[in-house]
Amino acid sequence: MILVTGGAGFIGSNFILDWLSHNDEPVLNLDALTYAGNLHNLASLKGDPRYTFVHGNIADASLVAGLLSRHAPTAIINFAAESHVDRSIHGPEDFIQTNILGTFRLLEAARAYWSSLPKGNAFRFLHISTDEVFGTLSPADPAFDEQTPYQPNSPYSASKAASDHLVRAYHHTYGMPVLTTNCSNNYGPYHFPEKLIPLVIHNALQGRPLPIYGDGQQIRDWLYVRDHCNAVRRVLEAGEPGQTYNIGGLNERTNLEVVTLLCDILDERRPKADGTSYSHQITYVTDRPGHDRRYAIDARKIQEQLGWRPAETFDSGIRKTVEWYLENQAWVKDVTSGNYRHWIEKQYA
Ligand code: NAD
Ligand code: DAU
Repeated sequence: MILVTGGAGFIGSNFILDWLSHNDEPVLNLDALTYAGNLHNLASLKGDPRYTFVHGNIADASLVAGLLSRHAPTAIINFAAESHVDRSIHGPEDFIQTNILGTFRLLEAARAYWSSLPKGNAFRFLHISTDEVFGTLSPADPAFDEQTPYQPNSPYSASKAASDHLVRAYHHTYGMPVLTTNCSNNYGPYHFPEKLIPLVIHNALQGRPLPIYGDGQQIRDWLYVRDHCNAVRRVLEAGEPGQTYNIGGLNERTNLEVVTLLCDILDERRPKADGTSYSHQITYVTDRPGHDRRYAIDARKIQEQLGWRPAETFDSGIRKTVEWYLENQAWVKDVTSGNYRHWIEKQYA
């Protein structure tokens, strides 16, 4: 069995679905079900004996210790986090609690469990981090590699950086078999519509403004979520304990390019009744404070050492993503009720 934390979120749920489609090793999913956690993402696993859900917090030391001793996982994969940069700007406290304190408590429980294992028993702790810990790049700078110094710029990325340092320290100090992955912006099915791509698809279909922060020339390196899941499986299987691996999509785009491409695909797939383009809904809004200008990942280490490469191009991945949202409007409707409306009113006031 493997323990996945945050498995009801965007990447975690894609990971569990991907894992069980490749593998019969059971999954225990520990998730606190914050606004970002959604068990509907995993509805297809109902009745599957390989899957167990536990509702709880990674910072709950006794709960986690009990789960580890009862289920004896061969690995912990830590996806649980507060993940939205804009929310961290409005209220950093939850980010400190989960991303720093939560990861610390999880590490402590994992250390006690790992120390109690008979010699030779397999165990790995894989921590999912982000490229945002490296800070921001100018247009001509080389992409982030595993040696790039940490320079986090938002409360979110600072909290992720702190958790990465703790994970690293547990290897150096205690010899724990930890691995860390730093990936770029994921996109794909089950992406919560507070993030750029699903927000734009949702707003376009609702006839609402498509908000572009600042001049829209910020660059992200987009990675299709199933490619990311594949990379995580590969690192778990063959990564070297104590090492970090950068995972990127080889897909640098400006935000304006991304939003324009989404409008073009929607114009083709779901033309508006009045014949106008969705791009007329594009609206420039106040920039995010401290907005990082460019992220880019140098993924040569994972390519050369572990033989991983992304399978999707941006064009193929974004088309699959738009199709998924068009076919899953009931999912979108479900997650965009209640608290979601409150957030959107506050953020885009
Ligand atoms: P998400 O916000 O969609 O999901 C996070 C999940 O964690 C939710 O299911 C939530 O309920 C759960 N959770 C939050 N606090 C918890 C706690 N204290 N205990 C247990 N569960 C808790 O996030 P995501 O986009 O799926 O990101 C997953 C991980 O990948 C995060 O660590 C994030 O920092 C990292 N990451 C994400 C991206 C991206 O583009 N989405 C890119 C790089 C790295
Ligand atoms: O780089 C990895 C990171 O990618 C992850 O660590 C984070 O968890 C994840 O949320 C994501 O962070 P970003 O801030 O890059 O993603 P977001 O979708 O919020 O924004 C993408 C870009 O689009 C960013 O430059 C801000 C911009 N943006 C975003 C929103 C929500 C807009 O222009 N308008 C918007 O309404």
